[in-house]
Amino acid sequence: MENTKIIILAAGKGTRMKSDLAKVLHEVKGRPMICRVLDMVKQVSPTEVYLVIGHQAEKIREITQNFNVIYAEQKEQLGTGHAVMAVEPVLKDYAGDTVILCGDVPLLKAETVQALLAKYRQGNLDGLVLTVKLDDPKHYGRIVRNFAGYVERIVEYRDADAAEKAIQEINSGIYCFNTAELFAALKQIKNQNEQKEYYLTDVIGIMVGAGKKIGTLIIDDYLQVHGVNDAEDLKKAEAAIEE
Ligand code: UD1
Ligand code: MG
Repeated sequence: MENTKIIILAAGKGTRMKSDLAKVLHEVKGRPMICRVLDMVKQVSPTEVYLVIGHQAEKIREITQNFNVIYAEQKEQLGTGHAVMAVEPVLKDYAGDTVILCGDVPLLKAETVQALLAKYRQGNLDGLVLTVKLDDPKHYGRIVRNFAGYVERIVEYRDADAAEKAIQEINSGIYCFNTAELFAALKQIKNQNEQKEYYLTDVIGIMVGAGKKIGTLIIDDYLQVHGVNDAEDLKKAEAAIEE
């Protein structure tokens, strides 16, 4: 797809995996998670792919060497928003759209990324979040909507109150943004939250507050947005692959 850049976040250690191996290097049915994401991205044929690495950066470079990606290093892992900022030096003058993917969401399909971009472009939006509704929304970030039904902000599970925890619509960690608006909002995020991290999710509330239009693409196939954070999540991802 023309004029599309993709950022993949893959710098985190993956503390909840309880393993020394960087999370995105864990194999799902014999293929490292990050390679599965890159295989999928290839099908979207974006203009450029930026891979944000940090924890075990050298190993990730080695394993992904056959892919055409530009690496950006996040020296300290201070959060998903901070991770995206690592790409700012190379992207700040880019006028097109940027898709953000997570290296720990291995079952996402290319057609969904294409649908996300198509909806974003048709809707004349500044940002779009891929979401699903789950019976058991677990520890995912929650999508908070206003009375009119528009997205207002995203709240992380750990920072959510009881009412917000009851929200069933969750953030997949997959987005499309107007690049300039994204970096403008990122400059305003703070780390005043339970994890003391710079959350990418906070840009949604900041953009909405500035009058920007944020849309959602809600999909039914929850497996596509299944995020792998611990050993049990990894098993579930493996079970979902039929090859
Ligand atoms: C994130 C979202 C959450 C969403 C979920 C979906 C935030 C704050 N939260 O939570 O709303 O429901 O994904 O799966 O964004 N990473 C870096 N550098 C960092 C931190 C993380 O590159 O400093 C990378 C990780 O390697 C990983 C991805 O970003 O690939 C997501 O990070 P993770 O810690 O798994 O976020 P979640 O808690 O899953
Ligand atoms: Mg995760």
